[in-house]
Amino acid sequence: MITLDGIQRRYLSDAVETTALADIDLHVAAGEFVAIMGPSGCGKSTLLNTLGTVDRPTGGRYLFDGRDLASEGEATLAQFRAQTLGFVFQSFNLIDELTIAENVELGLAYRKDQKGDRRARIEAAMDRVGISHRARHYPHQLSGGQQQRAAIARAIVGDPKLILADEPTGNLDTENGAQVMGILESLNAAGATIIMVTHSPAHADLVGRRIDMLDGRIVASVARQI
Ligand SMILES: Nc1ncnc2c1ncn2[C@@H]1O[C@H](COP(=O)(O)OP(=O)(O)O)[C@@H](O)[C@H]1O
Ligand SMILES: [Mg+2]
Repeated sequence: MITLDGIQRRYLSDAVETTALADIDLHVAAGEFVAIMGPSGCGKSTLLNTLGTVDRPTGGRYLFDGRDLASEGEATLAQFRAQTLGFVFQSFNLIDELTIAENVELGLAYRKDQKGDRRARIEAAMDRVGISHRARHYPHQLSGGQQQRAAIARAIVGDPKLILADEPTGNLDTENGAQVMGILESLNAAGATIIMVTHSPAHADLVGRRIDMLDGRIVASVARQI
């Protein structure tokens, strides 16, 4: 599904150059669940944002199902994201002024689904993560675990092939973190490819492969022993 070939990302600010990604080669097959670990600042989020096409590499090639995304224009990439990707963040990123159902509906923005299809998709996504009974509530009325589950519903409402999660359990207690991992595992079992940044070795041990990063490079890639 994914091939990164010599991906680099450099930032230039006040004449100081930071290399966030030095030289990343990576292959991820459809159906994998990959955990990315590494110390703060080693480039994990930059790598995830590059995979999500919200950050552009300054060098290298990004092939997705054989298509070179590094050379595509912004309109095409916006379509690609809307049709193919779901994002989950550490801080949930729900819109406070919208209900949970309205937040989930945002996951269908830029798509041309019929109105009836939209409603069915939204209900199915909320069911899947167990927050249907909170559909008319606002984010501040929900616990952290419920908010993250709502954010996952928003990410999966369009049935994405690839889910990108940046420390999805980072703000949750053990029990809610385990619940979120269980949801991600069931989405993976149902066919979604998942790439997740985590600081939790226990969570990384649950998934198919663990990648370790250091200073903008991948230093290890270890498949889970079954
Ligand atoms: N917008 C930016 N401008 C300049 N430097 C950045 C920017 N975003 C990230 N960086 C730098 O790139 C490096 C990698 O950051 P990041 O990918 O966020 O790391 P991680 O997610 O592993 O903590 C860090 O040194 C960070 O300071
Ligand atoms: Mg990060």
